Amino acid sequence: MTKNIIEIKRLVKKFGDFTALDGVDLNVYEGEVFGLLGPNGAGKTTIINVVLGLLKQTSGSVYVNGLDNTKHIEEIKRAIGMMTQETVVENELTARENLELFAKLYQVDNDKIPKRVEYALEEADLVKFGDVRAGTFSGGMQRRLELVKSMIHNPPILILDEPTTGLDVQNRTELWKRIRALNKEGITVILTTQYLEEADALCDRIAIIDHGKIKAIGTVSELKALVGTGNVLEIIAKPDDIDDIVKLLKKYDIDAVVKSDKITASLGKDSSRMFTKITNAIEDKKIQVLAISAHLPTLDDVFIKLTGGQIRDSTGENASAMTRARLMKKR
Ligand SMILES: Nc1ncnc2c1ncn2[C@@H]1O[C@H](COP(=O)(O)OP(=O)(O)OP(=O)(O)O)[C@@H](O)[C@H]1O
Ligand SMILES: [Mg+2]
Repeated sequence: MTKNIIEIKRLVKKFGDFTALDGVDLNVYEGEVFGLLGPNGAGKTTIINVVLGLLKQTSGSVYVNGLDNTKHIEEIKRAIGMMTQETVVENELTARENLELFAKLYQVDNDKIPKRVEYALEEADLVKFGDVRAGTFSGGMQRRLELVKSMIHNPPILILDEPTTGLDVQNRTELWKRIRALNKEGITVILTTQYLEEADALCDRIAIIDHGKIKAIGTVSELKALVGTGNVLEIIAKPDDIDDIVKLLKKYDIDAVVKSDKITASLGKDSSRMFTKITNAIEDKKIQVLAISAHLPTLDDVFIKLTGGQIRDSTGENASAMTRARLMKKR
């Protein structure tokens, strides 16, 4: 039987009049990699902060390992390793000193600290850099140090808030490997991400969150099934022609989602025949389209279907710019 290692029920968090979390329900199973996928401001970090007791919920309940977060926050903190959205290694300290500091903060037994620290340096591939100041490390090295630092007290749960935002592709896939390896060792992993392909690559189950509400939870294939059977039609057209195309699709019983100049719709079981019918009809009506194509459902399609919006471009360009801005602000 699957055990819920985290149980969140009807969680509400308000900041003044603003509702950041609007009745969130979700369970994380022991041993899985669970992803919280959503755009900027969706409420991902707020959920984590409430779980860790860094923010007080307005209402609703959170249980970690059966422990109520309003009563047993110290125990909960000990059960969780947390890698925050921003890099928080101490620049002035060496890698080893960073790890020792955190081991003490997390109350690792004094006699166990040296072993844990050496193990962490090995895990992070930083043995040669143990006595080098962390401030001189590359972004990838800092993230690696941060990951082992968050696990220094050997917790059963690891939470990563946008672990790869701002990392280049190589460092990202490298971090994915480490996360998978930790999960293989039995660690339950919860991560937030704005990257569809990250959720797709890493997560056993995904919750899609938007404006403080969970829109859907499931495995990647369960979520993709929400888009409908068959392929997804995508048409890009001039604004004046959009209505005509939507009406035309309606005649074939196809409900379209329109987002600026892009129309998407599920083509149903007999996708290729339907695609031909539609392209012919568009031609007959002499409607100009800029592009028309069909593809297998992606998480992007799921997101569009559930929220009416696109999560972000998958290149991560915006993200790196944003993270840079954040880090600059912090310094
Ligand atoms: N301390 C706060 N006071 C007021 N509003 C807040 C506070 N913290 C978060 N918010 C608001 O709550 C909403 C959710 O924020 P949150 O940081 O949880 O989003 P997120 O999904 O983590 O986004 P991102 O991907 O940008 O990190 C946002 O609209 C944010 O502006
Ligand atoms: Mg966040």
